[in-house]
Amino acid sequence: EVKKLFHKNIMLIGFMGTGKSTVSSYLSKWLDMEEVDLDAMIATNAKMSIPELFEQYGEAYFRDLETKALLEVQEREQLIVSCGGGIVLRDENVNAMKEHGKIVLLTATPETIYERVKDNKSRPILNGNMNVEYIARLMEKRRERYLHCADIIIDTDNKSVKQISEEMI
Ligand code: S3P
Repeated sequence: EVKKLFHKNIMLIGFMGTGKSTVSSYLSKWLDMEEVDLDAMIATNAKMSIPELFEQYGEAYFRDLETKALLEVQEREQLIVSCGGGIVLRDENVNAMKEHGKIVLLTATPETIYERVKDNKSRPILNGNMNVEYIARLMEKRRERYLHCADIIIDTDNKSVKQISEEMI
């Protein structure tokens, strides 16, 4: 059983729309491991949606809540944690994840990402910039950070959630 192989958490990271939440819920059922969605946790704690948090308090405040949520989660074990796409932006987060988690990076092309996120209004980072060029540029800016964190990298283009999960395990 995968669950017994290690005590760490499985951390799913990657750009918006790479399928972190979808893969996380599939794995959670399949492996019978508890799932934590960091964005959902932040929104519940703050009693506010992510777009509302960005709008009322700004990105820096959201990033503070994100770090706080991550550190809380890292005190526990054997969780499947889906992180927000920007979790890698702070060195502090990266260090915490490396220490307490097995980090899985999900990737996809900017074109695939665009198709997956274009009709969704819940990502403030893409507000007014919902196009392939912007996604590609932001992804390029973050690339080094994602790669630096990853223990495992899984491409998600043209794959089902089942294929992605099986490949990962
Ligand atoms: C963000 C990604 C979002 C969410 C917030 C910021 C980012 O999570 O945390 O809107 O900076 O990439 P998803 O990756 O789940 O969309």
